[in-house]
Amino acid sequence: MAQTSVCVAMGESQTEVCATFKMVSVEDTTRRDEAIEEVAATLSVRAERGRRFAELTSLRVGGAVDWVLTPDSEEQAAALVSELEKRSVAWRPLGSGSNVLADDGAHHYAILSLKGLRADLVFKNNRVSVSAGFSLPRLCIEAARRGLSGIEGLNGIPGTVGGALWMNAGAYGQEIGTVVETVRVARGGRVVEIPGSEISWNYRHTSFQEGELLLGATLLLGAGDPDEIAARMEAAKSQRMATQPHGARSAGCFFKNAPASPIGTGRMIDDLGMKGTRRGGATVSPKHANFIVTEGDDARAADALALAEEIRERVKQEHGIDLEYEVELWSSKGEDQK
Ligand code: EPU
Repeated sequence: MAQTSVCVAMGESQTEVCATFKMVSVEDTTRRDEAIEEVAATLSVRAERGRRFAELTSLRVGGAVDWVLTPDSEEQAAALVSELEKRSVAWRPLGSGSNVLADDGAHHYAILSLKGLRADLVFKNNRVSVSAGFSLPRLCIEAARRGLSGIEGLNGIPGTVGGALWMNAGAYGQEIGTVVETVRVARGGRVVEIPGSEISWNYRHTSFQEGELLLGATLLLGAGDPDEIAARMEAAKSQRMATQPHGARSAGCFFKNAPASPIGTGRMIDDLGMKGTRRGGATVSPKHANFIVTEGDDARAADALALAEEIRERVKQEHGIDLEYEVELWSSKGEDQK
């Protein structure tokens, strides 16, 4: 098996999603499939074939992926990746797919779905322990109910805790990284706890490396008045409902806000008159210009990518700014696309 580093970078974008996949020949594929079946059976992990990114991501586009493996506990997930790695099986973690645009090609690797990791929350004083597959909005609501503050602004971000940790999700002045006491990751087949202070929590980016599997976290929240927390949570939610599309097929904000610009990316795209611009099944949301939404059964990842690149070109022309992708672009190609 040849090992290839896949780095996805669109045009001049600085956003880069790198992963190490193994390019497999037909013979290798048969051996790999047998290895996956054996590991899944031994560890009692659900293993499915024939799934498509169009069913696995919130944009509802993207091609087929060879396997979807769904462990149902942190321990099982840690054992699973260790066994896959021993057998050189290429894998990528995926939560609810709410920040991923996977291309339309056939993706020859295994998705390790974290949606099964949603054990009950464990509260102790101001701390809460949560698994990676737990819904972020549900966590926010449960914390608020107990008078715990620090993540109420994140309510309404449609994703899992694992995804939120991976990219340091934030909204309305809060970011999850600021309240992380420890993170649980898979190492050597086991669940290992590392201090949150060892991680760099940056704007929609962390120092976690591709290949690291996040299993859960313990958050240290602040004590507050449940009514006041609930009021702040409601305010953030209604602000979000008023300014962002909901119920639409999107991946949240498509681009980061540019640090050097006083104008947000949404405003910039809006000022260019691009709201409602449509390419195939992808449209710049009429509600918030930094959202690309897809519509219809024949929408393709390529439509969203073409529209995104058109936006980047217009912003570059008008403002001289290279927008960085906020969504992760997942390539099916076993070659460096830089
Ligand atoms: N605006 C426009 N037109 C638009 C969109 C926004 O004129 O189409 C204006 C707004 O009226 C406002 C300003 O731009 O005056 C800022 O807009 P908003 O409050 O919506 O904030 P944002 O910078 O566009 C950021 C995050 C959102 C997060 C909100 C609220 C990024 C890229 N976006 O949006 O996060 O929900 O603040 O905190 O950081 C995401 O991460 O996926 C995301 C959507």
